[in-house]
Amino acid sequence: MSPILTPLLLLLSIILLIPTTRSTTTRSTTTTTTIVFTTLGRSRYNFDIFSTPLSSPPSSFQLTDGISVNFNGFFLPDSSLLFVSERNSSFNLYLLPPPSSSPHHRSTLQLLLSSPLLPSNPSFIDRPILFNDNLIYVSTHIPSSIPRQSWSSIYSTHLPTSTTLRLTPPNIADFSPSLSPSGLWTAVSSSGSHPWSGQVQDLFTDIYIFKTLDGSSRTLLIKHGAWPSWSSDGSTLFFHRSSSDGWWSIYCATLLFPSSSSPPFVSSITRVTPPGFHAFTPATSLSDPSTLAIATRRSTSHYRHIELIHLHNGVAVSYHEITRLISPNSHHFNPFISPDGSQLGYHRCRGRGDNGDPSLLLENINSPDPQSFSLFRIDGSFPSFSPSGDRIAYVGLPGLFVVNSDGSSPPLKIFDGNAFATAWDWKRPGVIYTSYGQDFATESTRVDIISVTLNEDDENGAPVIKKLTENGENNAFPSPSPDGESLVFRSGRSGHKNLYIMDSKLGENARLQRLTEGPWTDTMCNWSPDGDWIAFSSDRDNPGNGSFAIYMIHPNGTGLRKVVQSGNGGRANHPWFSPDSKRLAFTSDFAGVSAEPVANPHHYQPYGDIFTAAIDGSDIRRLTHNSYEDGTPTWAPISLEPANVPENLGAGDKCSFDDCHWLNVDNQVLPSAVC
Ligand SMILES: *[C@@H]1O[C@H](CO)[C@@H](O)[C@H](O)[C@H]1NC(C)=O
Ligand SMILES: *[C@@H]1O[C@H](CO)[C@@H](O)[C@H](O)[C@H]1NC(C)=O
Ligand SMILES: *[C@@H]1O[C@H](CO)[C@@H](O)[C@H](O)[C@H]1NC(C)=O
Repeated sequence: MSPILTPLLLLLSIILLIPTTRSTTTRSTTTTTTIVFTTLGRSRYNFDIFSTPLSSPPSSFQLTDGISVNFNGFFLPDSSLLFVSERNSSFNLYLLPPPSSSPHHRSTLQLLLSSPLLPSNPSFIDRPILFNDNLIYVSTHIPSSIPRQSWSSIYSTHLPTSTTLRLTPPNIADFSPSLSPSGLWTAVSSSGSHPWSGQVQDLFTDIYIFKTLDGSSRTLLIKHGAWPSWSSDGSTLFFHRSSSDGWWSIYCATLLFPSSSSPPFVSSITRVTPPGFHAFTPATSLSDPSTLAIATRRSTSHYRHIELIHLHNGVAVSYHEITRLISPNSHHFNPFISPDGSQLGYHRCRGRGDNGDPSLLLENINSPDPQSFSLFRIDGSFPSFSPSGDRIAYVGLPGLFVVNSDGSSPPLKIFDGNAFATAWDWKRPGVIYTSYGQDFATESTRVDIISVTLNEDDENGAPVIKKLTENGENNAFPSPSPDGESLVFRSGRSGHKNLYIMDSKLGENARLQRLTEGPWTDTMCNWSPDGDWIAFSSDRDNPGNGSFAIYMIHPNGTGLRKVVQSGNGGRANHPWFSPDSKRLAFTSDFAGVSAEPVANPHHYQPYGDIFTAAIDGSDIRRLTHNSYEDGTPTWAPISLEPANVPENLGAGDKCSFDDCHWLNVDNQVLPSAVC
């Protein structure tokens, strides 16, 4: 069954789903506002793709160029490398040509999806495969119409014609595609028709297959499995699964094909890797059916490493460590093997081997609405702009920092404690409010609100710290009124976290008024620039069950209303008003999870993306697309040019991030993953 995909796809271009526009992005300079948000950990990733020859003793070569993050590679038969990169403000696919006679000239990257999808609609792109002239990949381009369903789906782009097809049915999420050796079938992990329901560790996907040509003959193959990888003869599918004994393990499904064109069925499933260590993200070799590359977490290392398994009749007969021998103190992700079996690829943090790529204070992200706002990721959490926009306060978890918005000053640490949330006074220059103490803590935990007043005459002069709350019972998320007189905050003083308003200069002893009251949590409040509203996040619909929606209330306690709820049991948090008080930016799980979390570093909430909505709850728009945790947006009335702002900082440690906390290797038995 030799594949003739190319001509067939040309015929099928009449069912073209996505028009491709070739446009050069001309950036508007009329942007009037700026949204800045946090992506937890992302500034530390600095991923590059490395390869290790499989025939000689382990040694590694950095293949990608040390710019941005480069990950999830795929080798072509001629040794070209296809990979994902977030350079130039959005995710895209790039092709690195094969090594020529002069390896130093191996630097011309080819951008593969020049504008495959609508340029004004950025998307996350992941897990590329090139087969004949067809790129198969994951994209979040088309929204799901089901709240909390992931937008990740499989697309196929025929490169010569730029014809793009969506292979996944509407409102279904597919991840992690793998092509059968003939190219006829694509296997994916999929949530099927069940929307995502809050899982963070194991997404509890099933493995489906469909025809690569057009997504037809879609068939459920394996319940509870993910990250499929076909063996070289197409008769076996390897995959990972979190086993009921708590260990992530590799499994092997034997496939039987009733005929050459009908989907296979599974005749048996066996577990390849035993309990005692975690094994995941399997990659087969097309030239050697007895070799499988996997990532592991073992108790013998604090890091995630790549190993080879030698198999006999689907049973692991030996394990061969690869990356622990080369780079023992790095996490290594998502192996892949070249078609001739000579090269093993994976990505890891490049450490300090930057190719002149500075670390960034503000990383420009393509704005879906460049006329209205520019969009940036900041290397910090809880950013907020000074009223004139010249400075940004943020927290470093720990520590409170101030930096010039143009990066022209090194960040200045103005408070040492575990601060979270920042907000500038609208009237008094250089006054910043924050809360300090344990975050994510109980009602009675000691957390206080302080104002930190910068010494505006002498920047080396010590800031003045003033404590505004007295009883210490979880007072947090201060937000000042535009007249500079009041501060709204949440407090656990009644035994429940509700909202209060106090005097912004003298604190609660001078004036304190309760704004909300009830046996639930109201938190993360933000006062509108026009003074009329306070937006906040609350679980009052179903207290304690983890579901948070965004509400608004007038400062005089009237007019309470729900603005945005993210599906049943969903989360919408950290609201922040637009400068005209007509919209809210917030973080939400409205678009589920965009990739298998086990294939990434640790994120507590890998579902977080930044959205905006009108204050009547209409017109919800997604701003960020990635597989990480985005949060704590702020929205400033200034026009920051959409370009990266380097960090005026000594070389920090760019590789300090954690592997998934739930890949526990110390306990013999782990509870199975729960929602
Ligand atoms: C990224 O953008 C810069 C400037 O806009 C451009 O010169 C460069 O070619 C782009 N790089 C890639 C790989 O597209
Ligand atoms: C409460 O405040 C809102 C706007 O801030 C105002 O429209 C409304 O009239 C006020 N209600 C009372 C009872 O004061
Ligand atoms: C939380 O409550 C909502 C609304 O009643 C419900 O739809 C959802 O399933 C609940 N979630 C959990 C995790 O209990």
